[in-house]
Amino acid sequence: MQHTVVVGTQWGDEGKGKIVDTLARHADSIIRFQGGNNAGHTVVANGVKHAFHLLPSGVLHQDKTCVIGSGVIIDPLVLASELTRLTDAVGDKHAKIIISDLCHLIMPWHRIVDSITGGKIGTTSRGIGPTYTDAIARTGIRLIDTRDLDAFAELVRKQAKWYQSYIQLLLDFHQVPKAQQYQLVQSKELDPDTIVSSYVKALKHIAKIASITDTAHFLHQQAEKDVALLFEGAQATLLDITYGTYPYVTSSHPTVGGVYTGTGFRPRHLHVIGVAKAYTTRVGEGPFPTELNDDVGQHLLETGHEYGTTTGRPRRCGWLDLPILRYAKRINGLDCLAITKLDVLSGLETLKVATSYYIEDQEEPVFTPHAALLEKAEVKYESLSGWQEDITGVRSFSQLPKAAKEYIMFIEDSLKINVAYIGIGPDREQVILR
Ligand code: IMP
Repeated sequence: MQHTVVVGTQWGDEGKGKIVDTLARHADSIIRFQGGNNAGHTVVANGVKHAFHLLPSGVLHQDKTCVIGSGVIIDPLVLASELTRLTDAVGDKHAKIIISDLCHLIMPWHRIVDSITGGKIGTTSRGIGPTYTDAIARTGIRLIDTRDLDAFAELVRKQAKWYQSYIQLLLDFHQVPKAQQYQLVQSKELDPDTIVSSYVKALKHIAKIASITDTAHFLHQQAEKDVALLFEGAQATLLDITYGTYPYVTSSHPTVGGVYTGTGFRPRHLHVIGVAKAYTTRVGEGPFPTELNDDVGQHLLETGHEYGTTTGRPRRCGWLDLPILRYAKRINGLDCLAITKLDVLSGLETLKVATSYYIEDQEEPVFTPHAALLEKAEVKYESLSGWQEDITGVRSFSQLPKAAKEYIMFIEDSLKINVAYIGIGPDREQVILR
């Protein structure tokens, strides 16, 4: 059986949720393998907008199983309220949800540390980096540790004591003014008893709707039954801790390798779909060679509603960048591309596409994730004709305006890859399959 993974090819927010939702109809289980509630996936179903942060985007499919794999980190308070929102919206008409007991927990101190130190990266302040830091340092707390509540409380007490000192050290080191210190650290936030009771309450609520279990075992059993599995990446290639534009990255592996380590399952045949927006966006700091600080950038921001699902921050916008997609193709071994938000380009007279960079006078068709070199990149563009028509009602490739077809074919020819899906609007139905 061939399984599928959907990965982001740029800096995230490519519209992976919508593609996953489309593909979920043909899969038995949908699995997240990395990241946490820094992600934000929007799915519009029957005109209703659903924003997910931790739950896989396939969760609206009643007859499926959604899996949160071991590579995902979990803030139980956030997961509990996401599950409440889900059940408020659809009752019990959602997928079965199972969560790996090996997932690490985001604790209040991780969020505080992130708020103090994450500014220069422009993190989402959800505690992602500090939680993965503890996981790697072997000092983290996992879901499995909450089975024995006395042992869990003891772990929390020990960690809280250490973090109370460490956070004070960080506040002093970063010379955070006293008034701001009180905003960053609320009075009860590091109190172990308060943490244990709120976490236990959230976990009990989670256990009513989802099961916490050995998800790797579940996936192996599913594979033996010869059913299709769909792996859903959060964030994207250029935010990968190793292959992204370090240090302006997240702390997990959103690239295809994350599937193996973040699920405990090795799909034998894996079809890799890369999702790219028809232009480029990024949130947070770091280099962005095709960034537009002009009317076209404003058009992309407003027409594309480019505001973060998680933080509400306006996204930085720019032209499509082929060196980036070429790099993502290589790192992930992409089999095909899904191009989303093509409709956002409607109304622009001329479209520019980055075809290569000049770095220190040398033409570089291959993307470098080296942030300092990228800052120096001069971009070489190709100009293509735009189109004026509204394409949101189009349902087949042949109905697209000539210039829109040429835009897609230019991408295909340049990258030697098939564009198999084209997004032309936010609704579930607004996807052209080729
Ligand atoms: P963190 O994941 O919160 O540590 O943030 C690290 C970097 O990744 C920041 O630049 C964030 O803006 C970015 N980031 C994290 N999650 C997402 C996402 O889902 N979409 C886009 N950018 C993200």
